[in-house]
Amino acid sequence: MQTAHPRLFSHYVAILRSYLMDPVPDKVAAARSVGTLAVTANMSTLDLAILHQNAMVELADEFTFTTSRNGRLKQACGFFAQALVPMEKHQRDTRKTNQRLQQHNKFLRLHAAELAQSNKKLAKEVVRRKAAEAAAIKGHDEHLALFQESEVMQKKLRQLTRQIISAQENERKEISRELHDEVVQTLVGINVELAALGQGAALGMRALQTKIARTQRLVENSVNEVHRFARELRPAVLDDLGLIPALHAYCKGLAERKKVKIEITAFGGVENLADDRRTVLFRVAQEALTNAARHANATVIKVLIQQIPNAIRMEISDNGKSFQVDKVLHAPNPKRLGLIGMRERIEMIDGRLTIESIPGKGTTVRTEIPLAPAASHP
Ligand SMILES: Nc1ncnc2c1ncn2[C@@H]1O[C@H](COP(=O)(O)OP(=O)(O)O)[C@@H](O)[C@H]1O
Ligand SMILES: [Mg+2]
Repeated sequence: MQTAHPRLFSHYVAILRSYLMDPVPDKVAAARSVGTLAVTANMSTLDLAILHQNAMVELADEFTFTTSRNGRLKQACGFFAQALVPMEKHQRDTRKTNQRLQQHNKFLRLHAAELAQSNKKLAKEVVRRKAAEAAAIKGHDEHLALFQESEVMQKKLRQLTRQIISAQENERKEISRELHDEVVQTLVGINVELAALGQGAALGMRALQTKIARTQRLVENSVNEVHRFARELRPAVLDDLGLIPALHAYCKGLAERKKVKIEITAFGGVENLADDRRTVLFRVAQEALTNAARHANATVIKVLIQQIPNAIRMEISDNGKSFQVDKVLHAPNPKRLGLIGMRERIEMIDGRLTIESIPGKGTTVRTEIPLAPAASHP
């Protein structure tokens, strides 16, 4: 008889035979043990059924199964049922284990889902932290850049302050020197004349008149000099009469002293500008005119004040020798503050300053200051 489990088959046949010959309940245990062996051999219920079938064929010569009268068939069936018991139990156990495994799997799946979610959260957190870190680094860089910029600015400011202080000092020195040279000398001269007058009471009337006239001229000169200082420091006429008269007065004095021709063309509406703006224009004109007279050797200087859309433009141009504007304005350590001060004043009132110096033609200083809304409606 062909079978996949020959040893088990013979064992089964032997035990079945023994049972059929003497079917006592004790032998039920033997049937069960065969079932257990079948489970161990990894047999299915169907395999066991076939094995039982084959055993029946094997024993067909020894026992009569065709009639149910002697009950052999029934006994054989009972035997088979007992052999199935361990298998059934095994299957039940397997089912239970499977159920447990399924539950376990379900739990694992849940746990895995939770893990995936917390992984996702972690990944997000990592991204957030990285971004925060990058932002912190960037913020630090920006902070450093700003800090360095402010240090440079502070340095510049300190430098400028020192320059302003030294410029003020120079100006004071100049005023003091001129007061000494011009006014004091004249006063000393007057004193000498007066002393001579006191001693020479015996002088004739004519000589006396001549001396008095000379002394009067000296006094006049002193008065004029003192007026000039006062005008240059702060021309009263700018406050009392306005920008255009102040410019006329200043240009008249400058033209006489420096032997230069100065022409003024001015738009009257400029007087509607606020005080501080007119002062800026006056100071810029004063510096540009002095520069043209002092540095350019110009023969003619023109002052033009006109209205352009939304702004007032002032130009001071000379026909003298040119100079390198950029070099003066962007000198790393400027000693001269005229042009720089001009630019500072203009920028303080949101204006623009351009200086054009062309060899053979001369220099033009051009400023444009925006018309404040109130200034156009006096
Ligand atoms: N209109 C001008 N023509 C020729 N050179 C000029 C003129 N204005 C300025 N400069 C040159 O620019 C320099 C700087 O001028 P500024 O800043 O006013 O200082 P300062 O007048 O005290 O020398 C002058 O020393 C001069 O060489
Ligand atoms: Mg100057």
